[in-house]
Amino acid sequence: MENLNYHNPALIIESANLQPGSTIWRSPSNIAIVKYWGKHGVQMPRNPSISFTLEGAFTMTRVDYKPKETPSNEVELELYFQEERNEAFEARVKKYFASLTEIFPFIKQMSFKIQTANSFPHSAGIASSASAMSALALCLCSIEDELFKSFETDEAFDQKASYVARLGSGSACRSIFPTLSVWGKTSHVEGSSDLYGIGFAEQIHDNFKNFHDDILIVSAEEKSVSSTAGHALMEGNPFAEPRYNQARKNLGTVVEAIKAGDLETFGKICEEEALSLHAMMMNSNYLLMRPNSLKIMELVREYRRETNHPIYFTLDAGPNVHLLYPENIITDVRVFVDEQLAPLCVENYYIADWVGEGPVQQ
Ligand code: PMV
Repeated sequence: MENLNYHNPALIIESANLQPGSTIWRSPSNIAIVKYWGKHGVQMPRNPSISFTLEGAFTMTRVDYKPKETPSNEVELELYFQEERNEAFEARVKKYFASLTEIFPFIKQMSFKIQTANSFPHSAGIASSASAMSALALCLCSIEDELFKSFETDEAFDQKASYVARLGSGSACRSIFPTLSVWGKTSHVEGSSDLYGIGFAEQIHDNFKNFHDDILIVSAEEKSVSSTAGHALMEGNPFAEPRYNQARKNLGTVVEAIKAGDLETFGKICEEEALSLHAMMMNSNYLLMRPNSLKIMELVREYRRETNHPIYFTLDAGPNVHLLYPENIITDVRVFVDEQLAPLCVENYYIADWVGEGPVQQ
């Protein structure tokens, strides 16, 4: 096991040098092909995962900081979500910041105002923790960089941002990198780690460049099981070990398919992973798909059989269906989605997203 914790007592500012400042990051959501589901210790994955980084679905976060008026050990912050004070989210972020004070001791010296907003409607039922937590992690690393100039390279910055994002939400550590990211130690990917994600953009075949992800909003309701509860359910699941082994093997297969441009193998694993994730939840007595999720998946398979187009589905831990396909079939797919799938969505709503370039500092 790697021994890296980023604890750094030196990141304290001389009181005389404490100045107010601010930073803004836009950070994207991601969609996993091989899924992370099951963790241990401090946000360590039971199996490696790989995801596409999205472009259109992102969180924009501004962090203003200033010296505390009265010194204390408490985390001092106010959080505004879509311009309104949000106490539930504020409590979560306070807890998150409190867990980071050995990594960023300057957190205790400051008072923070956080303003955050998503590009996608709150009611879309899209998990926003990956984009939200990665945006916060990037802001904290930027503040460190501004105050201490401690990062010698962009790689060092990204690695720490990914490590810190992981502590907020496991899958968030993959949102730091453009195109594709792998998280979790695996012999199939050099440099991979359980502690942070790494970029995997360089090794991909042209067939996987400019991939699309249409996110079909089947239900806009809050998730019936949080991912924290979901990961915990894996602990008593009799199929947990076989599932982790399946994911470890699938990671190797999908990585080779992505390098070779093998869309068919990629698609087979992609769908198998989504169904396995839901099978694990069904085994814990949760039904997260809706009837229209199933209808959509069947229609996608039928359309693929009829047209031979490489279009595949995946799901996160909820009812919405992500449609993954390459750019060159978009004209046909748009007709298929608009005519056959959109009517199965809430108010015909879907988000036409695509694979993106990763976070951007504003
Ligand atoms: O990052 P978390 O703890 O919200 O877990 C997310 C897990 C899935 O989205 C279901 C799969 C994944 O790998 O992103």
